[in-house]
Amino acid sequence: MRQIIIDTDPGQDDAVAILLALASGDALEVLGLTCVAGNVPLDLTTRNARRVCELAGRRDVPVMAGCDRPMGRALVTAEHVHGQDGLAGPDLPAPTMPLDPRNAVDFLIETLRAAVPGTVTLVPIGPLTNIATAFQRAPDIVARVAGIVMMGGAHRALGNVTPAAEFNIHVDPQAADIVLRSGAPVTIVPLDVTHKALVTSERNAAFAAPGTRVGRAVAALTDPRGRESARHGGQGVPLHDPCTIAWLLAPDLFAAREVNVMVETGSELTMGMTVMDWWGVTGRAANARVLHDIDADGFFDLLTARLARL
Ligand code: RIB
Ligand code: CA
Repeated sequence: MRQIIIDTDPGQDDAVAILLALASGDALEVLGLTCVAGNVPLDLTTRNARRVCELAGRRDVPVMAGCDRPMGRALVTAEHVHGQDGLAGPDLPAPTMPLDPRNAVDFLIETLRAAVPGTVTLVPIGPLTNIATAFQRAPDIVARVAGIVMMGGAHRALGNVTPAAEFNIHVDPQAADIVLRSGAPVTIVPLDVTHKALVTSERNAAFAAPGTRVGRAVAALTDPRGRESARHGGQGVPLHDPCTIAWLLAPDLFAAREVNVMVETGSELTMGMTVMDWWGVTGRAANARVLHDIDADGFFDLLTARLARL
């Protein structure tokens, strides 16, 4: 049983990732959701995380508030993608479960210090502000992390919020730089992979087919109609964050490569770009396992089957 902490900015695709993790109690124990400002401001990401936990019938999962802004830049949000409240699509009720009073960064530090070293995996699927802040406040926890499996960055896929940068890295490039320089074992799920995980109308219909509340909600959260799919040949829209959980559950669905990855934190033109030394020309040591391919049918079969459990 792998113990994980999901650091998240729900966010439609974050919601699906959280549901996949909560549907996988046979393999994953979710110790908590640490929320960060990203797709929408912090008060909404904490609200949405609780709405998703209650949709899954999991009021027991601690949901905590972390950083409400990036380390060194103004917050950039994505309501145009996720809706004004961050969970456009399903009409999920307001949460009734309370926000856990612990600060998310304190929770990350205390949980890693209390756990047997190498047993807790961090799964950041939003800007890396909480993780980087925890590493700066408590450098001793870096060596205790079993791994970091993060959605973010891009290699050949270029950016999705600027021509050079993927959203999670763009929002807080300094945080991403701290995490990638930390020495923690990092697995990166970049746009190169998630742009191959396209929700088509058929895949969307398969989410709704079981007729469950969760299935209907996920179909509404990932409805490809009326979304910007031209970037992907009109085939569908990418489903980013659940790919991190799927890698933990079924790594054989993916192809990976050990690569040196650094983050642009100086130039405004390319701010937040992940510079991936794919051919090892810099001589810099590899610091990340970068996923670069996915069995998309296998991913959606896994996701659809597990969501049907809820
Ligand atoms: O670029 C995609 C990422 O940015 C996803 O994590 C999505 O939720 C947004 O946070
Ligand atoms: Ca996210």
